[in-house]
Amino acid sequence: MINSKSSPEERQLSFETCSLEQTYEVGSKIASMLSFPSCIYLVGDLGAGKTSLVKSIINSLGYVGEVTSPTYNLIQEYKVGQGVVYHMDLYRLEDPSELEYLGLDDLWSSHSLFLIEWPEKGEGFLQRANIEITLRKIFDSSVNHRNIVLQYA
Ligand SMILES: Nc1ncnc2c1ncn2[C@@H]1O[C@H](COP(=O)(O)OP(=O)(O)OP(=O)(O)O)[C@@H](O)[C@H]1O
Ligand SMILES: [Mg+2]
Repeated sequence: MINSKSSPEERQLSFETCSLEQTYEVGSKIASMLSFPSCIYLVGDLGAGKTSLVKSIINSLGYVGEVTSPTYNLIQEYKVGQGVVYHMDLYRLEDPSELEYLGLDDLWSSHSLFLIEWPEKGEGFLQRANIEITLRKIFDSSVNHRNIVLQYA
């Protein structure tokens, strides 16, 4: 894992990872820097590594157990020491207004962490993000190369 850029002025942190394990290390680092409440958007193509990063963040926050992708039920909840993590994957959302039925406003409290994959599908119906993480596959000699950029609001 290479931390290629760290600039508080730009409110941006950038990592390069060359394996799933290194992405897990980035997730663990992000978990150690997080404060509750937070709303984090994860942006990137299919297979970029959003769920992998989320899994490592949730496990690093102390959740012992498998973190599964919430693709079919939109939202999954995990209790951790600092509060409750809500992992959302909105890929299959057909209309952002469907989010009204989830009652997200009621879930948002000082002890909440929202981790939202495909936030662009829920535009207008989501909590504003204080961190946006963009994951990109880097197409070079390794199929496992990823760039992970944290942008703080
Ligand atoms: N450096 C890396 N970081 C993360 N994942 C990697 C890396 N190298 C290879 N992979 C592989 O890429 C895949 C990433 O899948 P993951 O489900 O995390 O992506 P995703 O962005 O959540 O996709 P989706 O939009 O479908 O939910 C996994 O199969 C993982 O093993
Ligand atoms: Mg995913």
